[in-house]
Amino acid sequence: MKILVTGGLGYIGSHTVAELYRHGHQAVIIDDLSNSSRQVLPALENLVGTNIPFYQLDILNQDGLARVFEQEFPVDGIIHFAAKKAVNESLQKPLIYFENNITGLLNIVRCVEDFNVNNLVFSSSCTVYGQPERVPVTESTPTTRSVTPYGNSKLIAEMILEEYTRLHKGLGTVMLRYFNPVGAHESATIGELPIGVPANLMPFITQTAAGVRERLKVFGSDYNTRDGTAIRDYIHVVDLADAHVKAIEWLQEHPDEVEFFNVGTGTGQTVLEVIESFERSTGQKLNYEIVGRREGDIEQIWADTTKVEQVLGWKATRTLDEMTSSAWKWECALRAQKS
Ligand code: NAD
Ligand code: WQD
Repeated sequence: MKILVTGGLGYIGSHTVAELYRHGHQAVIIDDLSNSSRQVLPALENLVGTNIPFYQLDILNQDGLARVFEQEFPVDGIIHFAAKKAVNESLQKPLIYFENNITGLLNIVRCVEDFNVNNLVFSSSCTVYGQPERVPVTESTPTTRSVTPYGNSKLIAEMILEEYTRLHKGLGTVMLRYFNPVGAHESATIGELPIGVPANLMPFITQTAAGVRERLKVFGSDYNTRDGTAIRDYIHVVDLADAHVKAIEWLQEHPDEVEFFNVGTGTGQTVLEVIESFERSTGQKLNYEIVGRREGDIEQIWADTTKVEQVLGWKATRTLDEMTSSAWKWECALRAQKS
């Protein structure tokens, strides 16, 4: 299949492009490089062993998008990653988040309609569940309004896509609700490229171990969990990438359907367990201190993955130690490139 991947040079997008080729598909990438580097393209091409069509384009440019779809017609499916994702920034710049994540999505849907695309996979997030009453969460756990424009942009996007897919004959849509993607490709040639001070746990850990940050702050030790620190469902980015391939292949066999899937491992880990795994798998001692809770954080969430296993036949296979060690290998490769 020829799959158009928006945001294909980003963290999850680049790993998904690699998995698409590994499974015999082709990709066409659209990315405006607003949160990624052009250098990812040659690294990816090297990994997959062929040239990959790339358009540097903002998805807010509807005419530019239409030209790409005309040029690449017919496209067998779209995986739509392109969005802004910094939760805190979205509180400062809500309009930019709504434009990118909602208007951008509408522009993609316009191309679905104008160029008869049959399959769409959308990057959603476990953020749509907020702090659920019960864990693990299934896909029928109620979704809830978020306290951030970023979170609400995912909720609104899901609603738009669900309704549009039901009304528009010929389109099938899968929404993947990611839990906490971490780690990097085993080759250490692609990985996460956080700009500035990382807000997320894993890049903060690896940058601390690399000496770029002095100390990791562990946010909160008084949660109602086994060691008092918050619990998340960390998932290896290559497993997550593989779920996209399964989703787009499933849509080929299930035209006109609209489905939501949790994409996690089905197990929750505390912050301290992630740190222990990092120290064990890399042999690095991590400098950290326990501080107060971070505002807006939830206590615990992890996925019930029964549905994605049964319907898509997908299951995460990589361990937490593989996540932490691959994240470290990538951090070391990045440092080596820079020096
Ligand atoms: P990322 O920032 O690394 O990748 C997004 C890519 O999209 C970047 O390369 C960026 O340059 C591009 N982009 C952004 N706006 C664009 C625009 N207007 N036009 C063209 N390209 C644009 O982020 P990621 O972590 O790979 O996330 C991918 C998707 O997954 C996003 O939709 C994000 O909201 C969602 N998601 C991410 C996480 C996570 O923890 N990383 C969790 C849940 C959901
Ligand atoms: C994980 C855990 C922190 C940094 C965010 C978004 C969510 C989703 C994934 C996109 C938490 C703790 C972190 C640090 C710490 N993204 N932590 N010290 O908060 O689960 O989710 O990313 O959809 O929408 O909100 O991820 O990596 O920031 O934090 O102790 O320096 O690590 O408190 O318990 P989070 P995270």
